[in-house]
Amino acid sequence: MAAGLVALGTYVPSKVLTNKDLETFLDTSDEWITTRTGIKERRIAAENEYTSTLAIQAVEDLIRRHGQAALDGVDMIISATNTPDALFPATACLIQAHFGLNAAAYDLLAGCPGWLYGLSQAYGMVEAGIARKVLVVGAEALSKIMDWEDRSTAVLFGDAAGAAIVGKVPEGYGFRAFALGADGTSAKELHYGCVAPNLPDGTPLSRKGIFMNGREVFKFAVRVMNTATLEAIHKAGLRPEEISLFIPHQANYRIIDAARERLGLPWDRVVVNLDRYGNTSTASIPLALKDALSQGKIQDGDHLLLVSFGAGLTWAATVMTW
Ligand code: ACO
Repeated sequence: MAAGLVALGTYVPSKVLTNKDLETFLDTSDEWITTRTGIKERRIAAENEYTSTLAIQAVEDLIRRHGQAALDGVDMIISATNTPDALFPATACLIQAHFGLNAAAYDLLAGCPGWLYGLSQAYGMVEAGIARKVLVVGAEALSKIMDWEDRSTAVLFGDAAGAAIVGKVPEGYGFRAFALGADGTSAKELHYGCVAPNLPDGTPLSRKGIFMNGREVFKFAVRVMNTATLEAIHKAGLRPEEISLFIPHQANYRIIDAARERLGLPWDRVVVNLDRYGNTSTASIPLALKDALSQGKIQDGDHLLLVSFGAGLTWAATVMTW
């Protein structure tokens, strides 16, 4: 047996915030946002919805799709998030309590690739026999930490959650390779402060919304999307043309296009849904994966390539056979 995804669920809040809505209170335009990013609208959590609320809804969706029995044997919960309800306890413990699972639980902070980092840990735990099944959640209530007066970040992000279970799958299916990395020397390009007043290099940590050097993150993203995907494909023993479907982090249409072009993949083998959800950080890839499944884009035996980048700066890619 190998290890792979055995169940998936997602949740997006019902409130839609369009580019036109943003025009009413920010010095921006639908035209600017669309041409620079591809985003048309995003979802915003209700006042009483936080990351744990969204995460629990995503697990409820997983149960609706796969049955309550899907949670049987889950003895580890990893909640990948950049916007936990609290610094402690871990949001994963709130999920554990809600579903009454007999499971260990912890949060994982690795920027947007957090969900892919979580999958790699879950894979290792299942393969090593540390856990029978691992629930890996990617959930964000980014709207709660946004500076709604900062047009350079407020237009980019959205709230959402995705939840998957990693467990045993038949030989020949499941995860084939991971390529993970980090470069903390570029930490200053993307941050949101908490305990310390500044980074070790003296950069004051942003406390009023996310600080992002968009141009630097853009260049970094284009570079690591390329190197990480090629590394994962190579480790999986495949060639780029053997990738059936490319599911990249949904941050910017131009970044996705650059990665797609370098891999030599046609658009019909790429999943894009950022126009409807914006950048939902750790929830972005499970959301895109579920969309692809709902649209019948994934067949038995397909090789899927997933890749993400984000704050840290970090990156992660994986290749799995569905
Ligand atoms: N509306 C209108 N104008 C704007 C807006 C806006 N919302 N935001 C910025 N501008 C202006 C700028 O002020 C600038 O004006 P100037 O030339 O007079 O100074 C101009 O538009 C161009 O700004 P740039 O930053 O150069 O625009 P760029 O083409 O680089 O696009 C963007 C900006 C969309 C942020 C892009 O750099 C990007 O997508 N970067 C990557 C971001 C990303 O993927 N982040 C992921 C984070 S993941 C995580 O872990 C949280």
